[in-house]
Amino acid sequence: MTSVRDFARFKTEGRKISMVTAYDAWSARLVGQSSVDAILVGDSVAMVVHGHATTVSATVPMMALHTAAVARAVPNKFLVADLPFLSYRRGLAAAIKAVGSLVRSGAHGVKLEGIEGHRHVIRQIVGSGVPVMGHVGLTPQSVNRLGGFRVQGREPGAADRILRLAHDLEDAGCFAVVLECIPGELAAHITSELTIPTVGIGGGPCTDGQILVLQDLWGVSGDHVPRFVRRYADGNQLLTDALNRYDADIKAARFPSAQESYS
Ligand code: KIV
Repeated sequence: MTSVRDFARFKTEGRKISMVTAYDAWSARLVGQSSVDAILVGDSVAMVVHGHATTVSATVPMMALHTAAVARAVPNKFLVADLPFLSYRRGLAAAIKAVGSLVRSGAHGVKLEGIEGHRHVIRQIVGSGVPVMGHVGLTPQSVNRLGGFRVQGREPGAADRILRLAHDLEDAGCFAVVLECIPGELAAHITSELTIPTVGIGGGPCTDGQILVLQDLWGVSGDHVPRFVRRYADGNQLLTDALNRYDADIKAARFPSAQESYS
């Protein structure tokens, strides 16, 4: 199983890191059978599975439930779980309690967004023996302050700030940092400056690794496909076809057959 030590080694060796999200046991089982390096139980579960408009609806019990389902199905992959909105901003004790809940549910590490105002929390989590993944650029838990899901770091001042935050996350002890929706040149620059690996989503080709939402890459998400997504399957078409063939077989009395029935 991949560990934080491998993340560090992959960076040194220039070997790219692959990650996907997973939220439930059946899809996680398929990820477990693949060569993908690691799984994120992302707070995007609030949007993808629960139908919320943003990730701010994710809660610690929600994340723990989905983390436990994924961990039961995939014992052989490094598992990171997202600390949800505000869970690491309510004081140290509350943050550590949230981390405990996710780790006891099966996470090997946790991810959180940004650093300003919770640097001490990151240090405490790392000091407690739990690997922390940082996340800068488009930080969806701040969608209301950012004014929407939009590319970050296009202006020089904003780019400098993201670079500084990434350095701060490394200094605070993070083992890796997600770079979301930033110009490829900025992501490449951050990747060249940090000694910990960067994992990009909408950060261009020069990060140390990539992560996508599983439903996006399987092509089973909605009509809006962000520019950075590559659909590796047309799952919507495939699965709708299967349902329509099932429906047609029932209505034509072709399902179930004698072999699919008990005598
Ligand atoms: O919640 C999530 O899916 C994420 C990824 C986009 C990195 O944080």
